[in-house]
Amino acid sequence: MEPRIPPRHVACIMDGNGRWAQHRGLGRTHGHMAARAALEAVVDGALEERVEWLTLFAFSTENWSRPEEEVSFLVNFLAQHVIERGAQGMRERGVRLRLLGGEDPRIPAEVTGRLRKAEELTRDNSTLQLSLAFNYGGRQDLCETARSLAAQSVPAAEVTPETFVQHMQLPELPDVDLLLRTGGEHRLSNFLLWHCAYAELVFLDTLWPDFRTTHFRHALELYHQRQRRFGSLAPADAVDAAAHAAVAGHALPSGLSTLPGPSALRGLPAAIASRLGASLWGGVKETALFALEQLAAESGRPGCPDRPA
Ligand code: IPE
Ligand code: IPE
Ligand code: MG
Repeated sequence: MEPRIPPRHVACIMDGNGRWAQHRGLGRTHGHMAARAALEAVVDGALEERVEWLTLFAFSTENWSRPEEEVSFLVNFLAQHVIERGAQGMRERGVRLRLLGGEDPRIPAEVTGRLRKAEELTRDNSTLQLSLAFNYGGRQDLCETARSLAAQSVPAAEVTPETFVQHMQLPELPDVDLLLRTGGEHRLSNFLLWHCAYAELVFLDTLWPDFRTTHFRHALELYHQRQRRFGSLAPADAVDAAAHAAVAGHALPSGLSTLPGPSALRGLPAAIASRLGASLWGGVKETALFALEQLAAESGRPGCPDRPA
């Protein structure tokens, strides 16, 4: 079987802790505690599958509206029980931790300190870049970026997708290839609005505390079945379109009864196929126009007027 290119950036909305606990007659915080195994599983899965970037949604800017007791548990739990205990393990396994999200006076200094320490401890790692979205909101992220552009008086004409990214909190954070959400809800909940522009969305009914590496592999399997087009055409369709354009209104030259079929391209993994399609498209179009000219010259008709100089 051909090797498949893993998604470069997987982002995960870890949802369903509260319901998991409620189904068992427990308080919601038990669901958050039970999510430890799922956190380990998602990191294991990303390492196994050679994913380069993994972003986990741990606490949203909207989660402050939950009851005080739950908020306090969530904010403290993450730093004390997960990151601090796991930081050494992350360091040994090549995981680099980075925080993504705004500062907030409601986050105890001790929590921020522990998270920053874990960042520091893992800063030389490069096998897996783990960004933890903590007190994160996609709209707030965009507003913060706009503020940075304004503060540095960047001229309007220079605001492009490329320069915009340079002003984001984590400019190196790539576009999300696969957005995975557990817990059965089909929404973004203000997560990575910029980076998910062309993400493949996978929603699983599994509640987050039940999530294991098998679920991660299943999500990747679904991702690999997708055909990513980025607004263009699938490679095989691009070849078809060019072939039709080239021969429209002309008989095929003698000795060539059929054009080579594009079907061989259909078996390519989606990531390779879409990249190949994008890079081939320009050449295919140029070749089709050239063929039109040649065929027109042979039959004594005028060439294609649109051919670029
Ligand atoms: C996700 O689980 C954890 C966080 C939002 C921090 P929830 O707590 O949202 O669980 P449900 O969706 O209520 O089941
Ligand atoms: C999204 O889950 C936030 C996190 C997983 C941290 P929510 O449970 O807060 O999302 P909504 O409220 O159902 O949209
Ligand atoms: Mg939820």
